[in-house]
Amino acid sequence: PLVGLDIGTGGARAVAVEESGGILAEATSSYPLTSPRPGWTEQDPEEWWRAAREVLGRVAAEVGGEVRGIGLTGQMHGSVFLDAGERPIRPALLWNDQRTARQCAEISGLVGAERLIAIAGNPALTGFQAPKILWLREEEPQNYRRVASVLLPKDYIRLRLTGERATDASDAAGTLLLDVGRREWSEEILSRLEIPRGWLPRVYEGPEATGALRGGVASELGLPAGIPVAAGGGDNAAAAVGVGVVREGILSSSVGTSGVLFAHTDAFSPDPSGRVHAFCHALPGAYHLMGVTLSAGGSLAWWRSTLEKDYEVLVEEAAQVPPGAEGLLFLPYLTGERTPHLDPAARGAFIGLTARHTAAHMSRAVMEGVVFSLRESLEILRSLGVPVEEVRATGGGARSPLWRQLQADIYNTPIRRTTADEGPAYGAALLGGVAAGAYRDVQEAVASCVRLREELTEPDERRSKAYEEHYAVYRSLYAANREAMH
Ligand code: XUL
Repeated sequence: PLVGLDIGTGGARAVAVEESGGILAEATSSYPLTSPRPGWTEQDPEEWWRAAREVLGRVAAEVGGEVRGIGLTGQMHGSVFLDAGERPIRPALLWNDQRTARQCAEISGLVGAERLIAIAGNPALTGFQAPKILWLREEEPQNYRRVASVLLPKDYIRLRLTGERATDASDAAGTLLLDVGRREWSEEILSRLEIPRGWLPRVYEGPEATGALRGGVASELGLPAGIPVAAGGGDNAAAAVGVGVVREGILSSSVGTSGVLFAHTDAFSPDPSGRVHAFCHALPGAYHLMGVTLSAGGSLAWWRSTLEKDYEVLVEEAAQVPPGAEGLLFLPYLTGERTPHLDPAARGAFIGLTARHTAAHMSRAVMEGVVFSLRESLEILRSLGVPVEEVRATGGGARSPLWRQLQADIYNTPIRRTTADEGPAYGAALLGGVAAGAYRDVQEAVASCVRLREELTEPDERRSKAYEEHYAVYRSLYAANREAMH
């Protein structure tokens, strides 16, 4: 068996996968997220390590310790600051931390906004790692003086598992310090920001082995010592491998707390306006473009808890409402928005309420608004020349027929699903399999493990046409209401 380990935001998850793709065991263990001030989010790397050992130990026991290789994945962008003894100096700053607006402006000034997109594939965004390093320098100089290295979340766990300081190209691309086209640290950005090159780990391709499992850890967890630990990938890239998004034309559309539209690209082709991310893929030499709706399933979760209703009842009622919710629209910017507005101050809204509308209309409008937002990402990808042949639904929303039908109708494309939709940890396990020699390469791992379900959700011509009109109105609403949101 192969094991994938995901250091997520809510907890760690390990899956054990047989070499033909079946799931043999899984385990999760959660940890807290602290917010010492509004907009700040932090976690204790020691908690990740505790949870990682727990879930690895549990899946190892279930498969009798017979593991050939491990692949790592996790939440992207976070910063773990380590001292010369490789101990965390302070809690890690996470991907959704918003404290670095000032540092982002400084980075754009120092590197140049256009240069930044050309090299790093993205504008300076508050969650990314580079502005966090500047924040530490400016706000906690006593901590900054002790820094000897900076790692991404899953790479701190790698250090504990193998003793090696290493990362993979897809996760490294989320730091803003990588020359994404060349897949190595950018001397230009590092020198402009005065960040020492020596602080950063070596960059590998996703399926490459970055080291071997240490003897002490192996015996504690009941795993064989010396098995390879693959570089792995950021959570979105690893999840994409797990649903077979490993060639142009295939996209994934994920509705979880956030919503992600993910496209494989053979070449590095950043969006000049920076509205969608351009990162390396976990597939050697490949790239991806990605649009992010911050509150996707998160919007429905908020609405459900506001109504204090069951999901099933809520979605069942929404399904009875006609497409377009009789003129009611919802903007899902409950926690600001990334694609396409790049605006942390964007806010949510219901627009078009009349006395006719019921809670059921509002439920439907929430779900439609989320998919309209993802449609905006799809249109940006299309405008950048990304071919769209097939969209695979993934994340929690993929299990709901209504979420799938809304995606088919609003994107006007058929929606497919894979049989094992096990998230980032599954893709990481496949990358671990390549490192262990179970497969020749990632393509072969995907061909051996990833299977499509028979079921196909087709767009309905009449509804798709109606949604075109609603989408046009939806698109006009952010600009029209921007002033009121700020
Ligand atoms: C990607 C992103 C999130 C995190 C947390 O840009 O910010 O998907 O990786 O899961």
